[in-house]
Amino acid sequence: MIRPTLGLLSLVLLVSALVGAVETARGQRGLYPPMPKKLTRKQCMECHPLIFKMLKTNGAAHSRVACRQCHTTFHTYIPGKTKYEDVLPKCTRCHDHPHGEELTACTSCHSEAHTPLDIPASLSLAKGCHVCHPKIAKEINTYFTQHTELYCTACHHTKHGYIPQCLECHQPHKGLFPDSEGFMWPVSDLANCLMCHSPHKALNVTYPDDTPNTTCGLCHRKAYEMLKKSHAKHSKFRCTKCHPKKHKTIKRCRQCHGEPHPQAMIRKFGSCGKCHGVAHSIIR
Ligand code: HEC
Ligand code: HEC
Ligand code: HEC
Ligand code: HEC
Ligand code: HEC
Ligand code: HEC
Ligand code: HEC
Ligand code: HEC
Ligand code: HEC
Ligand code: HEC
Ligand code: HEC
Ligand code: HEC
Repeated sequence: MIRPTLGLLSLVLLVSALVGAVETARGQRGLYPPMPKKLTRKQCMECHPLIFKMLKTNGAAHSRVACRQCHTTFHTYIPGKTKYEDVLPKCTRCHDHPHGEELTACTSCHSEAHTPLDIPASLSLAKGCHVCHPKIAKEINTYFTQHTELYCTACHHTKHGYIPQCLECHQPHKGLFPDSEGFMWPVSDLANCLMCHSPHKALNVTYPDDTPNTTCGLCHRKAYEMLKKSHAKHSKFRCTKCHPKKHKTIKRCRQCHGEPHPQAMIRKFGSCGKCHGVAHSIIR
């Protein structure tokens, strides 16, 4: 914030030195151009157009706060005499500590007071994610994946609230688009990935009931081919009929068929598969 200002300041200093000491409105020597006694907000804006622009376009609630409500003193900074930070307004004069005891270095996150909701994805911000989003921080640690090892800001980069596309870092599953049943998956879209993956528990895959078999078949060639070739009634089913909703769920034979045979027979032979083979290719 201060860097470009210092450049300007030294320019002003130089000009002042050349022209000779100029009296400011406050009667101090040197630093600031002469100005009318009663400064209006409009006059502040004329000399500080960038600040005005920031407040106007991105100032959020601060755009409704007058310059002098915050800057009760201004043009009092004199290099070597006053500290720059000290002449500038303190957040806590108007705000209590809105995020509690832990997050008190306001400007480490709100780095520009004139655009207070424009918060860069800095290290300071990263240290605060878990304070304000405890549920997500807990979730990503509970469902451990390689995403757990990333900083939140690896994905939520640039600035606070940024939502990444999965494809910034990943290739889409090969062949997901389009499939032979004519179902078009919009591969480049975050919404498509979110149909199956939640980013904070990425391996806890869930999928819609109408997911086509070809999609499962991308990774499960054997099961897919076996079911397709089978002449049993199961071959007409969607994979999701027996593997509903949550990936790796397996519905058991009895959940659909109950007890088709006398108990004694099953006890003698053990599993259904002993006689019927695998579900993907039922032997009658
Ligand atoms: C909500 C309080 C607030 C309001 C309203 C506000 N400022 Fe500021 N201003 C600050 C704070 C805090 C700083 C310290 C640096 C920072 O955070 O950008 C600052 C810094 C400045 C600076 C020093 C340059 C810089 O960016 O560091 C100038 C010039 C300035 N403000 C002018 C204005 C003008 C002109 C207005 C009205 C159009 C205004 N400010 C409105 C709080 C405010
Ligand atoms: C005639 C031009 C002019 C007007 C009008 C003006 N400023 Fe400034 N202001 C400057 C210059 C030049 C500087 C020094 C360079 C810089 O920081 O931009 C400065 C610096 C500042 C600073 C940072 C340094 C300090 O000592 O505070 C603040 C804050 C500030 N102005 C606020 C205001 C406010 C608030 C108003 C209206 C009430 C205002 N200015 C009106 C020209 C002006
Ligand atoms: C002169 C008083 C004043 C100062 C100093 C001040 N603010 Fe504010 N700020 C306000 C007011 C008034 C609001 C609107 C509050 C409301 O609507 O409840 C506000 C709102 C905000 C908001 C919410 C914006 C929105 O649109 O939701 C943030 C963030 C904020 N301030 C941060 C800061 C930070 C950081 C500082 C210090 C750099 C600061 N404020 C200094 C008066 C001030
Ligand atoms: C770790 C980073 C961080 C720190 C430190 C921090 N803030 Fe915030 N603040 C945020 C974020 C992120 C938001 C939410 C912005 C949004 O709603 O989009 C926020 C929102 C706000 C709001 C508006 C919503 C509310 O809760 O009232 C105010 C006002 C505010 N901050 C003021 C402050 C003040 C004053 C301090 C210092 C005492 C401070 N903040 C310290 C990150 C921070
Ligand atoms: C000071 C509290 C605070 C901190 C610190 C904070 N957030 Fe937030 N965050 C909020 C609030 C409040 C909202 C809701 C804002 C809204 O509804 O616009 C939010 C919203 C979000 C959103 C959703 C934006 C959207 O479009 O729905 C994301 C993503 C987010 N935060 C990520 C993060 C990450 C990542 C971090 C750490 C790098 C973080 N936040 C730190 C308070 C905070
Ligand atoms: C691998 C990338 C990635 C990582 C790491 C990540 N996120 Fe997200 N996050 C996303 C995506 C993508 C979305 C959008 C999800 C949606 O729209 O349903 C999101 C959404 C959010 C949201 C807003 C929606 C909601 O569910 O409330 C918040 C808040 C959030 N993340 C916070 C965090 C925090 C805090 C961390 C670190 C503990 C984190 N994220 C880590 C990718 C990530
Ligand atoms: C900022 C980059 C980034 C973004 C954005 C991102 N990921 Fe990842 N993801 C990674 C990294 C790094 C790994 C570790 C493995 C690797 O290098 O591919 C990973 C691994 C994974 C894994 C395997 C996890 C494991 O533990 O084996 C899945 C599943 C995954 N990502 C899905 C997603 C989905 C879905 C999205 C969007 C919601 C997404 N990712 C967004 C970086 C990212
Ligand atoms: C139809 C559901 C579905 C959709 C849609 C989907 N995935 Fe997956 N994805 C899965 C399943 C199932 C796995 C395997 C999970 C496991 O290993 O337990 C997986 C694994 C992954 C992995 C880790 C293993 C690997 O192949 O590298 C990444 C990364 C991944 N998906 C990214 C994405 C991205 C990016 C998108 C969006 C373009 C996406 N996925 C869309 C179901 C889906
Ligand atoms: C991106 C690749 C991918 C996609 C797409 C995919 N899976 Fe998987 N699936 C896997 C991986 C990896 C495993 C774990 C294999 C292992 O543990 O040996 C797995 C395991 C399974 C298991 C076995 C669980 C167990 O306990 O042995 C079932 C059942 C399953 N998937 C069904 C499906 C169904 C149904 C679909 C379509 C809705 C699908 N899969 C889509 C990669 C995928
Ligand atoms: C999601 C429910 C479901 C599951 C799980 C399931 N089945 Fe079926 N099965 C059916 C339905 C529905 C039929 C067709 C019944 C009809 O049309 O008369 C069927 C048909 C059959 C038939 C007759 C074969 C044919 O082609 O006519 C056999 C034998 C059979 N199932 C055995 C099994 C075995 C063994 C398992 C476990 C490995 C199993 N089923 C799992 C629902 C299921
Ligand atoms: C009629 C129910 C049913 C249908 C339909 C079905 N499965 Fe299965 N699947 C099962 C059962 C039951 C098991 C457990 C092993 C067994 O008993 O045969 C299983 C096991 C699996 C396994 C893990 C073991 C292996 O064989 O690799 C995968 C992967 C799998 N199924 C994928 C699929 C895919 C992909 C589809 C669709 C193309 C599908 N299943 C359709 C019932 C079904
Ligand atoms: C000892 C071998 C054996 C075992 C073990 C066995 N079955 Fe059967 N099952 C048969 C025979 C033989 C038939 C009659 C085939 C026919 O009539 O076409 C049959 C018929 C069926 C049918 C009816 C097929 C139809 O067309 O109506 C279903 C459903 C079935 N079994 C499911 C199961 C289930 C579920 C289990 C496990 C609990 C199981 N079976 C265990 C041998 C067995």
